[in-house]
Amino acid sequence: MTVQPDTDRAGADGPEPGTAAAQRRQAILASELSPFPEGWYFVASRKAVQRAGLIQKTWMGENIVVWSDAEGRICVAEAVCPHLGADLGPSAGGEICDGRLVCPFHGYEFDATGQCVATPFAPAPKTAKLRVFEAHDLHGLIFAWWGIDGRPPQWTLPTEPLEQEGWCDYQITTLRFPGHPQETTENSVDLAHLRYVHGYDNVDRPERMLVDGHRLLSRFDFRRPRTVAKFATLTFDVSADTHIYGLGYSFVEIREHSIGMNMRLWVLAAPVDGTLIDMTLVSQVREIRKPKRWIVGLGFLPARFRAPLINRFMASQQKEDVLQDVVIWGRKQYTSRPRLCRSDGEIMPFRYYCAQFYPEPGDSNGAAT
Ligand code: FES
Ligand SMILES: [Fe+2]
Repeated sequence: MTVQPDTDRAGADGPEPGTAAAQRRQAILASELSPFPEGWYFVASRKAVQRAGLIQKTWMGENIVVWSDAEGRICVAEAVCPHLGADLGPSAGGEICDGRLVCPFHGYEFDATGQCVATPFAPAPKTAKLRVFEAHDLHGLIFAWWGIDGRPPQWTLPTEPLEQEGWCDYQITTLRFPGHPQETTENSVDLAHLRYVHGYDNVDRPERMLVDGHRLLSRFDFRRPRTVAKFATLTFDVSADTHIYGLGYSFVEIREHSIGMNMRLWVLAAPVDGTLIDMTLVSQVREIRKPKRWIVGLGFLPARFRAPLINRFMASQQKEDVLQDVVIWGRKQYTSRPRLCRSDGEIMPFRYYCAQFYPEPGDSNGAAT
């Protein structure tokens, strides 16, 4: 088992000492965390939007509605009608007709760009437009941009296509608890907790984390004994690459070596109201045609049933892991000056990375209308 000491190097990734950037980052690191850092945050899956027709939720402290028109264009908008302020959610009577959101108060109709395109008794006023959040569909998962002071998107989520051939459907679970997306994302570089909280063995980091602007890559390997079907114990031998794009999007590529299994896990934290966060776990397993060894009982199943079943099992394990973290997250305080030890991993370089998601009002770059 090897855990690289790095406390001594922790400051190496920060800005040049004495510069304005260094002072600025220091101020951010030392302050309380703002509850709504800038970035892309998960809203809903496309399937959930299609199933519900109209979704309403509290997201980033905003009351929003989400719907899709017949062409599949998604709209994420503030749930407030620009006419006389009616709530547009389904519980207030808002509904989708022919792909348009219809206000329950006087019947204004809005298309998927948020523009009012019709009213029952007069031409639509051009100035009547919903406050819309830019949305992006990534592999059937809908994200919207949250910009400080209405800043438009400053960067994009990954644009590379993701192979779906041979991968099973998503398992999606959302947990709600008191927390902050920086604190939850910090777990990706907090190697000591992997051993202490989750009981992983042989935690090792093959290389230092990589930061490139808004992107961060953290790699680690570990072993994990698990009881399957209440009687068999398996040891999973895992390599995990975590691709972080801001504090609302973590994508983990997992390779399990002893069985020869590939898994994808998205960990999507989205602040709700300044205290609670929704953490959505999305998992997917690739079909295992020739396993290096069998998981109990799976050999009897046709190949196409194996991946969904394993996905359900792995998703339940991930949820268990997160629930172990929730006990800590839900009660902890943000410690701006942590007293770190040599086995902690790259906590401070991670925090330097995070500082970019708390721009000051003066940093406004094309504030949105
Ligand atoms: S308040 Fe929405 S149409 Fe009047
Ligand atoms: Fe954890």
